Amino acid sequence: MSSEAAAMWGGADYERIAERFAPIHDELVSALAPRHGERFLDVATGTGEVALRAARAGAAVSALDLAPALLEQARAKAATEGLAIDWIEGNAQELPYENGSFDAVASNFGVIFAPDPDVAAAELARVCARGSRLGITAWLPSEGLHSIYSRFIDDAGEDPTERWGTRGSVSELLEAWFELEIEERVWHLEGESPDAVWELMSSGAPPVKALADALEPGRRNEFRAEMIEYWEGFRANGAVSEPRRYLLVLGRRR
Ligand SMILES: C[S@@+](CC[C@H](N)C(=O)[O-])C[C@H]1O[C@@H](n2cnc3c(N)ncnc32)[C@H](O)[C@@H]1O
Repeated sequence: MSSEAAAMWGGADYERIAERFAPIHDELVSALAPRHGERFLDVATGTGEVALRAARAGAAVSALDLAPALLEQARAKAATEGLAIDWIEGNAQELPYENGSFDAVASNFGVIFAPDPDVAAAELARVCARGSRLGITAWLPSEGLHSIYSRFIDDAGEDPTERWGTRGSVSELLEAWFELEIEERVWHLEGESPDAVWELMSSGAPPVKALADALEPGRRNEFRAEMIEYWEGFRANGAVSEPRRYLLVLGRRR
């Protein structure tokens, strides 16, 4: 995996965003219901919030991510709590585990970013034991955001998240190996003003920060202005509350 991607994911203050995903981390781990001693894998763990929850439940947890800077923060949190988790720097497309190694595998807005969704899906299936549980979250495509980003990214190329973000396409990726249940959910990106949301996202959301940082100052200001106008459209009682829809994909390995 490219060190460029690792630098991009590690180059923002992602923990600020991870904190806001806490209800989703809770929901995902509770859907997977890890039991004491079960082998649990968190793919693209970031700062480790899903892995930490599974370890608190008593599972034997492995967690992988390509960004060393995020793994370092995850490791520090586990050490503070005295939780033993096997943190590994690695790529979701080449999982360094034997076939059938896990009873439960999770990936919260993680594996969806691997550049080749077919390869990443096959890797998830490979490391899942027969009868094991899979839990993934994936953003639904947002036309509003897509149209803004596409005006500022020169060569956007294929967006792998789109393959995970509709019921039909995520089923195509996984149904050869898993019995699937797919539910649509909503998370709200909130802030006291559009400026506050811009400040959060341009410092904490790695892809947004990377895009903003890559633009020359004039274009960056245009990007900022378009995002702020977009968030103006989600004002409620003065503050911003932008609904972001996602899929909770649960699978049982055949
Ligand atoms: C939006 S963050 C989610 C992190 C974490 N799962 C959470 O819920 O907070 C996306 C994560 O995917 C990781 N990532 C992206 N592509 C990856 C790949 N090919 N292999 C492993 N990790 C990857 C990034 O480093 C980042 O930590």
